[in-house]
Amino acid sequence: MKVLITGAGGQLGQELVRTAPADAAVTALGSADCDVGDPDSVARAIARHRPDVIINAAGYTAVDKAESEPAVAHRVNALGPAHLAAAAGGARLLHVSTDFVFDGQQGRPWRTDDFTDPLSAYGRSKLAGEAPVLALGNAGAVLRTSWVYSKFGGNFVKTMLRLMSSRPEVRVVSDQVGAPTWARGLAEALWCVAARQDVHGLHHWRDAGAASWYDFAVAIAEEASALQMLKQPVSVLPIGTLDYPTPARRPAYSLLDCTATWQQLQHSPPHWRVQLRSMLLELKEDHG
Ligand SMILES: NC(=O)c1ccc[n+]([C@@H]2O[C@H](COP(=O)([O-])OP(=O)(O)OC[C@H]3O[C@@H](n4cnc5c(N)ncnc54)[C@H](OP(=O)(O)O)[C@@H]3O)[C@@H](O)[C@H]2O)c1
Repeated sequence: MKVLITGAGGQLGQELVRTAPADAAVTALGSADCDVGDPDSVARAIARHRPDVIINAAGYTAVDKAESEPAVAHRVNALGPAHLAAAAGGARLLHVSTDFVFDGQQGRPWRTDDFTDPLSAYGRSKLAGEAPVLALGNAGAVLRTSWVYSKFGGNFVKTMLRLMSSRPEVRVVSDQVGAPTWARGLAEALWCVAARQDVHGLHHWRDAGAASWYDFAVAIAEEASALQMLKQPVSVLPIGTLDYPTPARRPAYSLLDCTATWQQLQHSPPHWRVQLRSMLLELKEDHG
């Protein structure tokens, strides 16, 4: 299986590279080698490497910044998958989308057939990027996921660790609920999909369990303290979304219902807190 990974320098891209199965011949391209927003760059990369499977890990992920530069987000998140789909030439295209396609105004986890109504420019750009992949029929698969973190790059866990190391207390939003997802587990799920010709269409993937950002921050403080990654105790205080205004609106409840995908793949993730512990342990080991 020849696999082309785009956006290989990001959180997911790096986890895809390190979890690649032995039978996958992987070409991993960063934005400098394949700019998904440029149709010629995409066509050149695909013509050169002739993959059986393309995994698009490229994304514009600056949710707040996207409000002031929606065209840049659209170029990567909407046009990127469209260019990849147009050039795929028979290769399967696996793509990643987001829980932010939903408005969050529902009291149960979101299924793939629930209505979408993104609240942000980022969410709209991601929703627009799903269609060209799904239009490939049996050759296209979209995995929506949520709250991705890893030891690579910037993310909520690393931001919290930094703040918790330098402040006696941190205040975190408690009225937005979803699920953290370790990029490692998401990468493994994508490799499962890559190995299964019968998996296509729209899917949801996240770690097991549910949390508010506040719950997530409390767990980060507890797990990091247990691993002696925090030198002093820190208080985590719950605040409301209204107390922490951001340029982008975010869904209040965006927990993805993954039942169908977990069943079809016969593969389901551990609880998010178990994943968090594993990631923190690796982060600690990396830093000696
Ligand atoms: N992070 C989350 O919380 C989250 C939640 C739900 C869904 N997702 C989705 O999951 C996917 C992976 O996210 P992530 O967290 O791994 O993101 P990330 O760490 O921000 O990485 C994104 C990667 O995309 C690359 N990229 C940006 N513009 C590109 C372009 N024009 N052409 C090629 N590559 C480009 C970036 O490269 P440069 O640094 O060189 O620009 C970066 O390496 C994305 O589709 C994202 O929308 C993420």
